[in-house]
Amino acid sequence: MRLVNQIKKIKKTINRRRLSTKLMGISPNLALHISPIKSIAIEASSACNIRCLCCPVGNKAVEGRNMSPGDFANILDLLPPHIKLLSFSHRGDPTMNPRFPEIVNLAFKRGLETDIYTNGLTLDKYITDLVESGLTSIRIDLDGASEHSYLNYRIGSNFERVKSNVRLLVEARSKSKEKFPKKIRIMCVVTAFNENEIPEIQSMEESLGVDEVLFKTAITNYGTKFYRDISLQKGIAPANKAYRRAKRPKNFICPALWRGAILYNGDLQICTADFEGEYVIGNILREKSFEKVFYGKKARSIREQIIKQNAPLCKTCAVIDKDHFMKGINRKFAH
Ligand SMILES: C[S@@+](CC[C@H](N)C(=O)[O-])C[C@H]1O[C@@H](n2cnc3c(N)ncnc32)[C@H](O)[C@@H]1O
Ligand code: SF4
Ligand code: SF4
Repeated sequence: MRLVNQIKKIKKTINRRRLSTKLMGISPNLALHISPIKSIAIEASSACNIRCLCCPVGNKAVEGRNMSPGDFANILDLLPPHIKLLSFSHRGDPTMNPRFPEIVNLAFKRGLETDIYTNGLTLDKYITDLVESGLTSIRIDLDGASEHSYLNYRIGSNFERVKSNVRLLVEARSKSKEKFPKKIRIMCVVTAFNENEIPEIQSMEESLGVDEVLFKTAITNYGTKFYRDISLQKGIAPANKAYRRAKRPKNFICPALWRGAILYNGDLQICTADFEGEYVIGNILREKSFEKVFYGKKARSIREQIIKQNAPLCKTCAVIDKDHFMKGINRKFAH
């Protein structure tokens, strides 16, 4: 009976989302009331300690700043109840903020789910705090079976240290009572550097004791000013077309319209691919309201440009309306 109810609930959600997608072109605010956003990206830090080949953050196109736990607590007070998941992934790496386990714990105490994305390089500093923070899920980038292939993309990182940090986290979780984080996953962006190592990567990640490895299609033409320098993207796309990101369909309605990101200072952005703050719609800390900013005049006008796909960033962006993960090669591990 419980399963039947769950299936009914999922079907209802899918129908609402379909209706909402249809309505998005007519009235974005109505569409977002019918199917409200369920998760939002939180920028715990806009700084980074490595320089991934294609990323504007690591290449210093973004100013490195940290969100304070005080501001985060105020942000939590303003979030609407339909937001259930906070994803600590935007510009920068959350581990650059020395107080990020505290931030995760504040969210946990409010009953929210949390998902961290990190390059994992300095994770060893936070293992105990993270296991005690109540973190739901962590995704660590480890996309090479060898130091050479990994460092081709993750410039300035340390292959052995990241592997050791993953082991430390897995061990600490298994020794803990509550078993947080509930999911430890590896993120593997598939590029020309690692496309021939997929089986080796799967075995390596399994031997580290993680729960899952997710293979993601690479963005090779990100719509930022940085990415418009085509020379930096040369040679990244995999030769195997099955590993490349699909093209957008006609009448594309961007899934980013049901997401959003809150920057370290409380600025609210519509799009999580917006590294340069082109789609900032207001500051929720200054306005003391999420809704006022999210449904405001500026938001409406930017959403209209996104729907028509005539915003400059949308024209070169590689986000599609399908999953960016490759189900055929993703692996779940039972330990
Ligand atoms: C922009 S990062 C920010 C969070 C964190 N610093 C990190 O790298 O995990 C968010 C996600 O994008 C992934 N990523 C990096 N470069 C990418 C690319 N060219 N295409 C697709 N995803 C990419 C990262 O591996 C990470 O999983
Ligand atoms: S670790 Fe994340 S934020 Fe840092 S350069 Fe790489 S992709 Fe960008
Ligand atoms: S299409 Fe536009 S709104 Fe959608 S992710 Fe790309 S830049 Fe953002």
